[in-house]
Amino acid sequence: MKESVSPALLPQARLADLVDALVDRSWYVGEGFLPEALHRPLFDELADMARRDALEAAGIGRGQTHHLRRDVRGDAIRWLDRESLAQRRYLEAMGELQQALNQALFLGLFEYEAHFAQYPPGAFYRRHLDSFRGRANRVVSTVGYLNPDWPEDGGGEMVIFAPDDPAREVARVRPEAGTFACFLSDSVPHEVLPTRWPRASIAGWFRRNASLGGVVDPAH
Ligand code: OGA
Ligand code: MN
Repeated sequence: MKESVSPALLPQARLADLVDALVDRSWYVGEGFLPEALHRPLFDELADMARRDALEAAGIGRGQTHHLRRDVRGDAIRWLDRESLAQRRYLEAMGELQQALNQALFLGLFEYEAHFAQYPPGAFYRRHLDSFRGRANRVVSTVGYLNPDWPEDGGGEMVIFAPDDPAREVARVRPEAGTFACFLSDSVPHEVLPTRWPRASIAGWFRRNASLGGVVDPAH
């Protein structure tokens, strides 16, 4: 019997580049990594949520320690819930990435969580790590960018700093639709510079189970 195999959403060659970069230097940035058929409907969906006031101010910490800190981050978010075809396709693409990471790096990742993020003009996110070393169940961070035709003077770049020297900037990522960033959650400091334009992205994290010795990470 012939098996039906759905076509891959992410090209194998780009996935291989990403894995190599994570091994070599703990971070990866690829322009045109996400196909338009993936990012365009997500941009439209996020714009619609913003119009309907369906986003909530992002906070810091979890549970009882969760609080708003506009001096730290100014984005508004909504967690992906698989409600739309666009979300399901994005999560399927992240499943392909998870498989590539697990095969090459034996990370034992088994869960992925992600939220839409909208940064209004003036918003930023100060330098941070997405999890704390040794205690982390967030292992690999992803950011997919959604704004088509990001203006030259739009600001809102994500700055990545060297894992072994947090004062040294190693990359500045324009939030242009299709660009995809991926890095180790507990060792790559990064920040979002103030944006001058409504800035749309999806931030996500591959996790290991907290019960396997980690704790639920405090960011968000
Ligand atoms: C985050 C984050 C970066 C970006 O949400 O933790 O660092 O470019 N986002 O949106
Ligand atoms: Mn982050």
